[in-house]
Amino acid sequence: MYINFWYVLAESRELGREPLKVKALGQHFVLFRDDNGRAKCLANVCAHRGGSLGGAWAGGGAPRIVDGCVVCPYHGWRYDGEGRCQKIPTLAAGAKIPSRARVDAYPVEERYGLIFSFLGDLPENERIPILEIPEWGQDDWSIVTMVYEWQSSFDRVVENVMDATHAEFMHPSASLEGQFQEGANCDTELLDGDDPWGNVFRITSHSLTLLQGYHGAAQAWAKMHFQMPTSSGDTETGDFHFCSYVTPIDKYSTKRYMLHARNIAQGDGADEEIRKTNLQFAWEDRVVVEEIQPVTPSLFDSTDLLLPEEKIMLAYRKSLQAWDRKGWRIDSEQVLRDQDEVVYAIPSPARRTQKSWVLPRVPTREISSNSTTRS
Ligand code: FES
Ligand SMILES: [Fe+2]
Repeated sequence: MYINFWYVLAESRELGREPLKVKALGQHFVLFRDDNGRAKCLANVCAHRGGSLGGAWAGGGAPRIVDGCVVCPYHGWRYDGEGRCQKIPTLAAGAKIPSRARVDAYPVEERYGLIFSFLGDLPENERIPILEIPEWGQDDWSIVTMVYEWQSSFDRVVENVMDATHAEFMHPSASLEGQFQEGANCDTELLDGDDPWGNVFRITSHSLTLLQGYHGAAQAWAKMHFQMPTSSGDTETGDFHFCSYVTPIDKYSTKRYMLHARNIAQGDGADEEIRKTNLQFAWEDRVVVEEIQPVTPSLFDSTDLLLPEEKIMLAYRKSLQAWDRKGWRIDSEQVLRDQDEVVYAIPSPARRTQKSWVLPRVPTREISSNSTTRS
């Protein structure tokens, strides 16, 4: 799991007037809306004595958001959207709020009906942009949003999203007509894309052109131009565009927010049909992907055998290696070892300028190339 990327933490419709506790990268966060309705994201652990800011409130009925601040259910400390404590109810009159009374606050963008948060400490001009969906809001496009939760590591999920050749074997209803049963039926190539954060891969066969790519550690997309039979017996030509925002909940479980855009099949009930088909495909994927071993793919290609047509996987793993070398990979083993005594925080941008935080920064590490051996 990697810090310094945008992750979807919830759908916009899930965040109303109450704070919402969510988990990502093995850590807990609280989302809430300030007085202007803007979504905010803080580390969920109160700087006082570790109360859960988004957790249950046994008092019943007490407001959880006051003056645009989220209120800790334990002793009522109030934190604004920047993570600063604005009120400590038990503080003696005239006493100053301690400067360490703050929690990490993360940049938030609400887009495409989703709440994205940048979980890391990079300054704004160094952050990867969110993968865009240009079809959003366009008249001739319809979009359905699907949310899946799998017991798999996030990188296995991203690889599954980018993996074209499994489709014919795992999704019989996709009618891919033997493209991948005989390699000669299709061409695969890695393109020179213009995304410094990702790569693009093209597959062409007699009836299908498919572009697939990734953008950062946990966002992937596919564009498919194809012919589809209609209920009246004709064929319709058009496009499906898929955009997947993948959020590691922890090392072993993952949420995937998938937006499926199309400029065909727009009739009544079409959305429901698309949802049904996507659910079927997701179930077919899930039963296989959850069983893959090891849990996380080796970044050094030592525990599986990639074929030349799987260049996109190799490119993705090379990108992950590069982000490892930047020190963005969370040391999950240490986090798990320490979990009973230490709670860590994903570093927020404010840590670049402010020192002395109550919670230590989550440990990160680089995977070394000789961490597995072959003989
Ligand atoms: S633990 Fe949050 S106010 Fe005391
Ligand atoms: Fe699939």
